This record gives sequence, structure tokens and C-alpha cells, in this order.
Amino acid sequence: MDEKVRQLEQLNAELETIFEYSFEGILLTDADGTIINVNNVSASFMGLPKEEVIGQNVRDLEKRGIFSPSAAERVIEEGNPVELVQKLLGGRYLYVRSKPIFDENGKIKRVISFTRDLSEIMLLKKQIEEMEDELNKYRLDFPQQIQMKGIYSRSEKMKKTLNHVHKLARVDSDVLLLGETGAGKTEIAKVIHQLSRRKDKPFHMINCAALPESLIEIELFGYKGGMFTGGDPGGKKGLFETANGGTIFLDEIGELPIHLQAKLLHVIQERQLRPVGGTEQLKLDVRIITATNRNLREMIQAGLFREDLYHRITIFPITIPALRERKEDILDLAHQFLQGFNKLYHKQVSLSPKVLESFLSYSWEGNVRELKNLIERLVVLSDYNVVQESDLPEYIQASSDVPDHLTLKEIIDKVESSIILKEYEREKSSYKVAEKLGISQTAAARKIKKYLG
Ligand SMILES: Nc1ncnc2c1ncn2[C@@H]1O[C@H](COP(=O)(O)OP(=O)(O)OP(=O)(O)O)[C@@H](O)[C@H]1O
Ligand SMILES: [Mg+2]
Repeated sequence: MDEKVRQLEQLNAELETIFEYSFEGILLTDADGTIINVNNVSASFMGLPKEEVIGQNVRDLEKRGIFSPSAAERVIEEGNPVELVQKLLGGRYLYVRSKPIFDENGKIKRVISFTRDLSEIMLLKKQIEEMEDELNKYRLDFPQQIQMKGIYSRSEKMKKTLNHVHKLARVDSDVLLLGETGAGKTEIAKVIHQLSRRKDKPFHMINCAALPESLIEIELFGYKGGMFTGGDPGGKKGLFETANGGTIFLDEIGELPIHLQAKLLHVIQERQLRPVGGTEQLKLDVRIITATNRNLREMIQAGLFREDLYHRITIFPITIPALRERKEDILDLAHQFLQGFNKLYHKQVSLSPKVLESFLSYSWEGNVRELKNLIERLVVLSDYNVVQESDLPEYIQASSDVPDHLTLKEIIDKVESSIILKEYEREKSSYKVAEKLGISQTAAARKIKKYLG
């Protein structure tokens, strides 16, 4: 009997060693989600000492934001193995695989979860970005993540944009926002207003593309009483007047009819306006933010945009990078939208690692809006709690020749090989590749040989 106990103790000690020796985080819970054991890797992912983690319930840790979502909880609810990507409190991402262990009656007894760090992939993605930014040596001394009224970014390019936004917001200058559709121009216009001294005053938006010519004029500049039959006898105040003291945002400024461009230029320069049919000039104290996704220079060439107005509004241009130029933000945005829509629709949908991998390689022509709309659709339509790659529209799915189960190492190799080969094709020299990627020539030569096959 004593011998049996001794053997069991020894086995237990051996298992404990294996547990601790693993590169992966391992976490074991009971059927209620209470943590029975974790190894140090797993505890350090959570940023907590092992002793503090043991005995806690995964739901409480999720509630505290230590990680989200909890894979063990999903397993307990569904009774099936689950793979998902989890966000940690500090902003890192983990790839989690969880599976149930059943007792002899087929009821869940334990749930075991294996976790590993996804940040290495993110890091490689970041290196690609930095490579593309190489010509642009300009670096700003700024905190790791810039948080501004709900907009923050991990991308150097976007951080630079947000930094400009921050500075311009305070100095009250007029601003032109440039960027592809859905990149966040409207969002940034609101942020500028929020960060300015005008934040408690009105913020009015008008989309110059959405209204017929005659209405835009009235909307913007108002009219005097008695101008139109059926019109308000007291006249109507235009947006410039109602936004007085605050900010007016003229979206799609490129669509403003050319004769109104002259009138707008006058308002911008003189800070006063004359309502349609009126005689007196009205003094204005209003900040003017404009935005467009059109190429205004080309429009000038084509005689569709006034050059003098162009020069007046481009004094402080801010370009919002396309989402494909700041891939580091994709996972954060996806996570943010997922949480938002889960809450809105009372669902608990999460995304499989392959889905996120597809997101990272897709080109997002519709930018943040496209990502947001897609996630809303996935949340609403998903029959299961974990969205799989096959649930995505076909054009978004990463190349179909990719095997089903890639290890982290394989994913990293894939990313690395595409960078190395792309550079080698361009430079045709291992020395130049080494220089560009900041690695030694021998390393570059070895990798080129490896990936050329
Ligand atoms: N950084 C961000 N964080 C969260 N949501 C964002 C962010 N940027 C944009 N969005 C969301 O993405 C959608 C598109 O953004 P927005 O309307 O600002 O784009 P836009 O550049 O003005 O597009 P358009 O040229 O079509 O007017 C909106 O729903 C917006 O709330
Ligand atoms: Mg917009």
C-alpha cells in the first residue's frame, strides 16, 4: 500500500515537471470553470502569480478583463473542444486550444486549455510595416499606444496621424481630412471637435454629396424670410449659423458644386456670410473641417474644383492611412467590434485563429467600415459560437492551398518567406536584403536559400 502511494506521488511529481517544462501555457479547470492548476507560463500570461490564479473562476478573470473571451467557459457551455484567439489585459493575444475531459457518465469533469503567444506574428507584421515606412525616417517620441476618445493605434503611421490630430485640434485651425472611404475621416472629425476648446458647442456635419445643389446652399447658408413661397416666413438659419461657436464638418467637399465653392471660399476667408436673399453680413466664429476621398488636384485639372479654395483648405491636411497600411490595428479593431456587436445582439461569438489570419492578409478596400460591417454580419448570422474560416465570404478567405493546421512556427515561416522573397526579388542581392531587413548578410543568404527551395 505504502509502495502504491509512493509510486503515485512520484508520478505526480513527474507530471508536475512536464507541466512546468512546457512552452505552452496550461490551465486546468473543473466543470464549473474553477481553476485547479496552472503552470507558470499560463500564470505569467495573465500577469498574476500562480498561487493567485488557482482557485479563481475563469468567468471572474474574464470579467476583470485579465483575458477575453474565456475558452474554458465555451467548452463548458458547448461540451466540445474550442480554438480561439484571446486578448490579454496588456493588449497581447493568445492562441488558445481547450478541450473537455469527461467522467465515466459522459459529464464534463475537467477542462484543459493550452495557450501560446500570438504576438510574434503581430511583430512580424509590424516589421513589414516598418519596412514600407523605411523612407520615412521621421519618428515621433510618443507613448506605445495613443488613446484618444476611443481611437488608438499600434501602427507608427497612424500614431503619427493621431499626433497631428491632437496638435491641430487644440490650435483651432481649419483642417482637411484625406483618406480612402471608410478609413475613419468622419470619426476623426468628431475627435477633433471633442479635443478642441469648442467641445461643448455644436458640431454639425453635412455631406455635400448627399444633397441636391439647391438644398446644399440653403442648408449651409440659410435664407432670409419671404424668399420662397411656402418657405418659413421667418427664414431659415443655415448650418454655418447654427454651428456658430462650434465646428462645422463638410464631408465630401469635392462634391460641392463649383458656384458654391466660391461662396464657401468667401466664408472661410472672411468668417462672415450673407444668407440667400439677405443683405447683411453675419459674423461667424466657426471652425471648418473638410474631408474628401477624391483627388482634388485632378479635379482642379478637370475644372471641377477651384484652385484658390484648394489652397485655402489644404493648409493643414491630415491623411488617414488605409487599413491595409496599418495591419497592426486589425486585431484590435476586430476585437472591439466583436465585443460591441456581441453586446448589442446578446451573442457570444468569437473568431477562430484562421479567421484572424485571413483578416490579416485581406486588403480591406472598404477599410474600417468594411471590417466593422463584416463583423456585424458574422455576429448576427453565426450559428456557432466560434466563427470558422469557411463562414467568411470566399474573397476574404486566405489562400485555399494552406493546410488546415499550421503551427505557430509554420505561420511565422510563411510570413517570413514572403518578406524575404519579396525583398530578394526587388533587390537581387542578399547584402541589400540584409541591410533593408536589419539582419546579417549570412542570415539573409541562408534564409533566401531556404525559401527559394
Ligand atoms: N479607429 C476606429 N475605431 C473604431 N471605429 C472606427 C475607427 N475608424 C473608423 N471607425 C468606424 O468605421 C466606420 C467608417 O468610418 P468613417 O465613417 O469615419 O469613415 P470615412 O473615412 O468618413 O468614410 P467615407 O469616406 O465613406 O465618408 C464608422 O462606422 C466608424 O465608426
Ligand atoms: Mg465619412
